[in-house]
Amino acid sequence: MGENDIDLSKVDEVLRKYTKEEASLIPVLQEAQSLFGYLPQEALVRISEGLNVALSRVYGVVTFYAQFYLTRRGRHTVRVCRGTACHVRGGKSVLDTAKDFLGVNDGETTPDFNFSLETVACLGTCCPQGARDPRSIRRQKGRLRWRDYCRRRILISFGSPS
Ligand code: FES
Repeated sequence: MGENDIDLSKVDEVLRKYTKEEASLIPVLQEAQSLFGYLPQEALVRISEGLNVALSRVYGVVTFYAQFYLTRRGRHTVRVCRGTACHVRGGKSVLDTAKDFLGVNDGETTPDFNFSLETVACLGTCCPQGARDPRSIRRQKGRLRWRDYCRRRILISFGSPS
């Protein structure tokens, strides 16, 4: 099996755990994505057939929710906040720096599939209340600490694809 071949037997295993109805679509998509790191077209066709849900409906759901990806993702995802609070504190320059450093634009993945870069509307940590949940920041590499990010109100989170 080549690097780009998709093992659909894994999708079949997922499908066997769920009832054959549209209500199973989102959990099946989530599990399938956890297998591949994204949702390959072949897997979507198999899910459509397996749940007896129109392929157009499957694509509709996948493209509606930001949690689903149609292209292969990097091992790590760098998320830069473009929310208002971060914007007024220079969030755009952080995004530009990340783009330059990684050599990709928003929504793209480095050729070595190590990093994907994406922007988010708000990481939910731009106020003292939100700052109680710094899990995404704790996982980040480097020496900047959570309170440094809070002070600057410019947030970047690092994470692996789920
Ligand atoms: S605006 Fe950036 S974390 Fe909320």
